[in-house]
Amino acid sequence: MQYGYFNDDLREYVITTPRTPLPWINYLGNRDFFSLISNTAGGYSFYKDAKLRRLTRYRYNACPPDQNGRYYYIKDGSCVWNPGWQPTQTELDRYTCRHGLGYTVISGEKNGVSAELTCFVPLNDPCEVNRLVLENRSAEIKDLDIFSLVEFCLWNAVDDATNFQRNYNTGEVEVDGSAIYHITEYRERRNHYAVFAVNTAIEGFDTSRDAFCGPYRGFSSPETVCNGCSKNSIAHGWAPVGSHHIRLHLQPGEKRSLLFVLAYIENPLEEKWEAPGVIAKIRAKELLARYREDQQAEFAFAELHNYWSGLLNRFSVCTGDEKLDRMVNVWNQYQCMVTFNLSRSASYFESGTGRGMGFRDSCQDLLGFVHLVPSRARQRILDIAATQFEDGSAYHQYQPLTKKGNSDIGSGFNDDPLWLIACVSAYLRETGDFSILQENVPFQNDEKKVRPLLEHLRRSFDFTVSRKGPHGLPLIGRADWNDCLNLNCFSTEPGESFQTCSNMESRKAESVFIAGMFVKYGGEYADLCDWLGDTAEAARARAEIEKVRTATETSGWDGEWFLRAYDAFGKPVGSRTCEEGQIYIEPQGMCVMAGIGVENGLADKALNSVMERLETPYGVMLLQPAYTCYHAELGEITSYPPGYKENASIFCHNNPWISCAEAVLGHGERAFHIYRLTCPAYVEAFSEIHRTEPYVYSQTVAGSDAKTFGEAKNSWLTGSAAWNFVNISQYILGIRPGLEGLEIDPCIPRWMKGFTVHRVYRGANYYITVDNTAGVEKGVAAMKVNGRPVAGNRVLLENARSEYNVEVIMG
Ligand code: BGC
Ligand code: NOJ
Repeated sequence: MQYGYFNDDLREYVITTPRTPLPWINYLGNRDFFSLISNTAGGYSFYKDAKLRRLTRYRYNACPPDQNGRYYYIKDGSCVWNPGWQPTQTELDRYTCRHGLGYTVISGEKNGVSAELTCFVPLNDPCEVNRLVLENRSAEIKDLDIFSLVEFCLWNAVDDATNFQRNYNTGEVEVDGSAIYHITEYRERRNHYAVFAVNTAIEGFDTSRDAFCGPYRGFSSPETVCNGCSKNSIAHGWAPVGSHHIRLHLQPGEKRSLLFVLAYIENPLEEKWEAPGVIAKIRAKELLARYREDQQAEFAFAELHNYWSGLLNRFSVCTGDEKLDRMVNVWNQYQCMVTFNLSRSASYFESGTGRGMGFRDSCQDLLGFVHLVPSRARQRILDIAATQFEDGSAYHQYQPLTKKGNSDIGSGFNDDPLWLIACVSAYLRETGDFSILQENVPFQNDEKKVRPLLEHLRRSFDFTVSRKGPHGLPLIGRADWNDCLNLNCFSTEPGESFQTCSNMESRKAESVFIAGMFVKYGGEYADLCDWLGDTAEAARARAEIEKVRTATETSGWDGEWFLRAYDAFGKPVGSRTCEEGQIYIEPQGMCVMAGIGVENGLADKALNSVMERLETPYGVMLLQPAYTCYHAELGEITSYPPGYKENASIFCHNNPWISCAEAVLGHGERAFHIYRLTCPAYVEAFSEIHRTEPYVYSQTVAGSDAKTFGEAKNSWLTGSAAWNFVNISQYILGIRPGLEGLEIDPCIPRWMKGFTVHRVYRGANYYITVDNTAGVEKGVAAMKVNGRPVAGNRVLLENARSEYNVEVIMG
């Protein structure tokens, strides 16, 4: 069953009922100002940091769900309704929500009045624009009362939700014409405020939530709206809101457009006040003046549209499979942008108050983003690397506002350093900008400890070299990619964080997954050293890699698949000898991607075992059999009921690793089959089971042990976006950036008789045609570049050439 459909021409997902199984959301904003918006106009806004600069308040875990957003109430006689149905939930005569790239349009119609709400964050201003167009489609005159509503957050979202004894006293506002200023704490240490304004004269306003709602009433039937009259309330403490009242008199057929803007304004400290006690409004007025007229808003909207067209023009494919094309050309890349921007901070499953930017998360997000805006990827790499410690380890998270490592969580996740190599390598392959390696980057954000980025990579590599366990495999530390496999934790205290506690420093617990990573990304480091002419360092690196490869093939092999780990007592994890958790997905994917066991058949065996033991119709499960009870020696993974999250759900993040691994072995049918199982556009057909948005990946889908098998959770902010894009673009379609240029190495199902790709790469346009009339799964039989046959499958760079025509014949 579906709750909407894709409109490929407009690059939109059109939702046709407000009663989606869960709120289906979109993200507005690309850089500093962000908003989340659901299909019923719920959500919230923040500036840069969802924890420290929250503009509007959101009620988590609310019942009914999704409370608070940018709400517009329409009072037409005794009928009060919202174009997005919430919060009044008045039944609409017509409803659609169109989520597009950086914008959302919600349209509702009731009793002959239609309302179309277009929400977007312009490219160049820190604000959300809401254009509300009302049309009288009836034969009578309509006298309408329109009320807007946003509820302000007192900036720090954690404090806002906890420190009521203070917060109920601090709230302050200023009202100036049609502009409502939220100025809490501006009197003291803040030099920023929010403003919510409309481009027309208003009948009245409210800024006190309690006045707006009336005693014991909520946003579903606020007193102000039901009475058709604002109270001109001024908030003194308690809960400041912004609400305008506008009266419209519409003739039959008449249309009116209103522009509302919610903006974040920062003033230089010395320019905070325009008079004693009166905030300086110049910057706010300048910004608002840019969205006063419809044409201005239309222009900003067109700019946003063009921006996205330009971005998506950098990689597009035509395969003839419309689901595949729409994922590659639009939605997967779009999600890559969102995950790059927000890491795992703010979604409908991440409160925005917990994690900032994850080290491993951001490094991986970059893999799917780097081709879109390489300059931003460059900056991100430098920011991330600056949080690294001198010994090569890393802060596991950092706050986007301060860019400083987060000491609450600290370090100790032993896979982190290698992800830095992965993302720098991806950046170099994409851009050829080797100058980044010479950039001076601090350790631990300390300007006194500055070394070139290349040195950071060396320390990342050596971090693993110098931390190995009894089997010569890398020590796992607190955890590796699987945050829940906590082999040194031994927690028995309810509520204790699995991520930060470690009750045993075994120096024994080893990770076969990190071993795979080390062989793969260590190998990329060695290639880079060769490329830079440092053959001695390359040889040293390769010798280290060989040791770990051998250790993996001997001590990391269980007979039919790769082991997952050794625990703190040296007992295998992910082995046929275990009672539960006999086989894990991660090492099978990563080790084969690294090329381990490809020559000697281990890789084939491992992937067969995955197919036999882990694959389901909804994707490949993380492990089997699921753990049925808690094991202190394994940690959080066993805290989840069977089939959920890391305990044997389907992780959309590492499904592509299996698909990539199949491609490494030349299995095009299998690679594509695995790709499809979790791919949103294919999953759309059973949205009532899957339940999260059908245009983006979710982190996890309940596995076969779960009662809710097939149900997804944690949509949007997941490394699944980047990895699925890497998989489909580089492994399946096989357009792979290398240090010396593009390599074309498709691995596709036999039925796919060919495809074309347009890709912008290092400043040139590549038009690639792949012909698979032969119906093979892998293999380039012949290739021509600009009409000339070339040997192999590399497109060598030619100076000053801006266009490459590449014809590939598979066979
Ligand atoms: C989740 C993991 C996540 C970790 C982050 C755990 O509860 O299951 O998926 O990586 O929290 O701290
Ligand atoms: C989500 C976390 O953000 C990511 O860092 C981790 O690798 C996965 N969960 C698996 O535990």
